[in-house]
Amino acid sequence: MKAMRLKKPGGLDNIFVGACEAGAPGPGEIRVELHATSVNYHDYLVVKGMIPCEEDRIPMSDGGGVVTAVGEGVREFAVGDHVASTFFPEWLGGDTALPEWMRLVPGDRSEGYAREAVTAPATWFTKAPKGYSHSEAATLTCAGLTAWRALVVNGNMKAGDVVLVQGTGGVSIFALQFAKAAGATVIATSSSDEKIERLKKLGADHTINYKSDPTWGFTAKKLTDGRGVDHVVEIGGAGTMAQSIAASKLGGHISLIGVLAGFAGDVNTAAIMGMNLRVQGLTVGSRQHQQDMVRAIDVSGIKPVIDSTFPMEGLADAFRHQESNKHFGKICVAW
Ligand SMILES: NC(=O)c1ccc[n+]([C@@H]2O[C@H](COP(=O)([O-])OP(=O)(O)OC[C@H]3O[C@@H](n4cnc5c(N)ncnc54)[C@H](OP(=O)(O)O)[C@@H]3O)[C@@H](O)[C@H]2O)c1
Repeated sequence: MKAMRLKKPGGLDNIFVGACEAGAPGPGEIRVELHATSVNYHDYLVVKGMIPCEEDRIPMSDGGGVVTAVGEGVREFAVGDHVASTFFPEWLGGDTALPEWMRLVPGDRSEGYAREAVTAPATWFTKAPKGYSHSEAATLTCAGLTAWRALVVNGNMKAGDVVLVQGTGGVSIFALQFAKAAGATVIATSSSDEKIERLKKLGADHTINYKSDPTWGFTAKKLTDGRGVDHVVEIGGAGTMAQSIAASKLGGHISLIGVLAGFAGDVNTAAIMGMNLRVQGLTVGSRQHQQDMVRAIDVSGIKPVIDSTFPMEGLADAFRHQESNKHFGKICVAW
């Protein structure tokens, strides 16, 4: 069976077509015929060699497919079920204190899902939302769940809250969609006026071009009549924190997710204190979080925004497209 592999030390030219195996499932396992994955910034860091792998790897954390065999004792899944992979296969739920659950992140610490089939413990997957294509299911593992955890699990977002989302990548577009489904007001930013028109069509209540308006945080606060936003989905990191703090209400929540504007830098901790802000870091979520998200999607009918779909052999091109920053929402790879 076919798989895309990444040769050490990484780099887009070191992605090649290789092979994989997926035998009959043992007790507690399922065999999944995979049909899609989607591109995340985390996968990009892996394939570029910026998150070094100890050995050659099948990359990609996200996988969508169909169950083709179930092992002894598996009751949760049946042959024919459509499934989505989980980001932390060993973090099933509950407290997050143990580092061990980070041990097996697919495509990074263990073999990922750019492959035609896999046999794995049933708990490494959840059901996909009803009516989702495999590509749609493969957008949930990382980007979808991160947005869900930021706003719903950690943010306790409710109707009437104001949510600020930054840029038009996978996490931010999901955050916009979850926020609108919950009855929140959304302020969305982008570097592109063309993408801003698309944000409006998706339901963004207010939009700001963060390139032409470098003090977009103050602008966002003005848009709330000076109250400030309840939640910031902070995908920039160090380079965007000052504006995120400026946008926030007293006691607001900044969900610290990404590094697109830097891994480290000066942060005004006195302002965080003075504004009584809750800055909470997060890493994706647990299987339980994913099951809750899938239930919510089944009710809300949210569909992921897929920018483009590449063939399996075009995996490197999918990352080149991500590098160009032309995408809006998720880039998928399907076969
Ligand atoms: N902590 C976690 O668990 C977790 C999980 C998932 C992702 N992440 C992180 O979250 C970030 C986003 O991931 P993603 O997969 O959604 O990436 P992505 O789809 O590649 O998003 C790229 C988009 O982000 C926007 N952007 C880039 N720099 C920006 C800046 N300085 N200010 C505002 N927007 C900016 C741009 O939108 P415009 O073109 O519209 O300007 C760009 O097109 C990454 O740093 C990733 O590592 C973290």
